Amino acid sequence: MRLILVGPPGAGKGTQAQFLAEHFAIPHISTGDIFRANLKSGTPLGVEAKGYMDRGELVPDSVTNAMVADRLTQADTKNGFLLDGFPRNVVQSEVLAEIVEKAGTPIDAALELTVDENEIIRRLSGRRVCRNCGRIWHIDSDPTQDAAVCDGCGGEIYQREDDKEEVIARRLEVYREQTEPIINFYRTRSLLVSISAMGAVEEVTSRAISALLAHR
Ligand code: AP5
Repeated sequence: MRLILVGPPGAGKGTQAQFLAEHFAIPHISTGDIFRANLKSGTPLGVEAKGYMDRGELVPDSVTNAMVADRLTQADTKNGFLLDGFPRNVVQSEVLAEIVEKAGTPIDAALELTVDENEIIRRLSGRRVCRNCGRIWHIDSDPTQDAAVCDGCGGEIYQREDDKEEVIARRLEVYREQTEPIINFYRTRSLLVSISAMGAVEEVTSRAISALLAHR
């Protein structure tokens, strides 16, 4: 299965990706996570990405496309992959289409997660992440026992810089202006599978799996 996850910030892409990647036994490739890992280890890529991410803007295509193209040459993607956060504009969609065409490995589906705007704000403002294992938590709907410590690995819990209110607003604008047009890109290629991502995490996962299997 070669799958793309599309949806606004906070739709639950990262949360669902953890379960879908496990279910279909494919690697979860999140461009946001790759940028954050580079930021943490202070690489030139991380330093370059930081300003864009903190402002809620997209990192330039020249940087992002090369990074994804390289990741898709790695051996673990041979039998499929789940892309989370890429593509994020029409140019990135076209670049991905070229990569998979050259490799003879077409995309099976672009799964769109739709969520009400109030719920997006609630999810993003309450999101917390483990600095060590990357597990995503929520202060109300999926809290850790101790607000500062990950229940999974004991790592430190933190709030993402781009989950502050003013940056959330900019990320939503960027999503509407630059990312939403890719929905049509995949619809016209009969690859779009759209589901509601409202409701409990496990309900959304089973809705996604059923819709993807029906699309095959
Ligand atoms: P990225 O990390 O990709 O962020 P995003 O797309 O804005 O998405 P999020 O991670 O914010 O949300 P999500 O949908 O994964 O939600 P989650 O599962 O965490 O990108 C960050 C930045 O990196 C970008 O702004 C850009 O600068 C740069 N970047 C990345 N890719 C790029 C690209 N291709 N090109 C250029 N720049 C790029 O869930 C959110 C919260 O809700 C969590 O707390 C979770 O516990 C909770 N939750 C989830 N599902 C449910 C549910 N069903 N019920 C209740 N709570 C739920």
